[in-house]
Amino acid sequence: MSENVFKGSFPVESVEETWEIAKRLASSLKPGSIIRLEGDLGAGKTTFVQGLAAAMGVKGRVNSPTFCLVQEHRGGEAFLVHMDLYRLRDEDDVLSIGWEDYLASGAVLAVEWPDRAGSLIPSDAFVVRITIPADGEEKRLIEIS
Ligand SMILES: Nc1ncnc2c1ncn2[C@@H]1O[C@H](COP(=O)(O)OP(=O)(O)O)[C@@H](O)[C@H]1O
Ligand SMILES: [Mg+2]
Repeated sequence: MSENVFKGSFPVESVEETWEIAKRLASSLKPGSIIRLEGDLGAGKTTFVQGLAAAMGVKGRVNSPTFCLVQEHRGGEAFLVHMDLYRLRDEDDVLSIGWEDYLASGAVLAVEWPDRAGSLIPSDAFVVRITIPADGEEKRLIEIS
C-alpha cells in the first residue's frame, strides 16, 4: 500500500499561503504523528500550527506557547498538542514537562525548537523547516520532509 504523504518545498508569500500548506500537511497526519518545526524566531512556526489547528477543527486560538511551553487543543476527535521548547535545555527538561505522556496520548504533536528534545523525537517525525528569504517581508520557504 503506498502512502500519499505530503512532502516538498513550497515558497509562500503570505500568512494565508502558510496556512494553506499546513492544511495540506494536516491531511497526512494521524493520531500520534509528530512534527518538528524548525526555523528562527519569527519564521512562522506558530503560524504554521494555526493552520494545522484550523484544518484539524480544533477550537480556540493558537498562540505562542513560549511561556507555558505546552498548549493542548481539542476539537471533535482531533487532539493537537503544541509545544515550544525554546526555554528548555535538554532531554531531561523535556521529560520533566510530561513528554512521555504526550507521546503516548495519541495527540498530533507539533514541536517548536525540537532540537531541545534530542533523541526523544522519533526519527520518522515530519520535519517542517521554514526560512525567510533575503527579500523577506511575507515570503517564506517551507520545506517538508
Ligand atoms: N508567509 C508567512 N508565514 C508565516 N508567518 C508570516 C508570513 N509572513 C509574515 N509572517 C509573520 O511572521 C510572524 C511569524 O511569527 P510566528 O509564527 O510566531 O513565528 P515563530 O513561531 O517561528 O517564532 C508573524 O508575525 C506573521 O504574521
Ligand atoms: Mg513560535
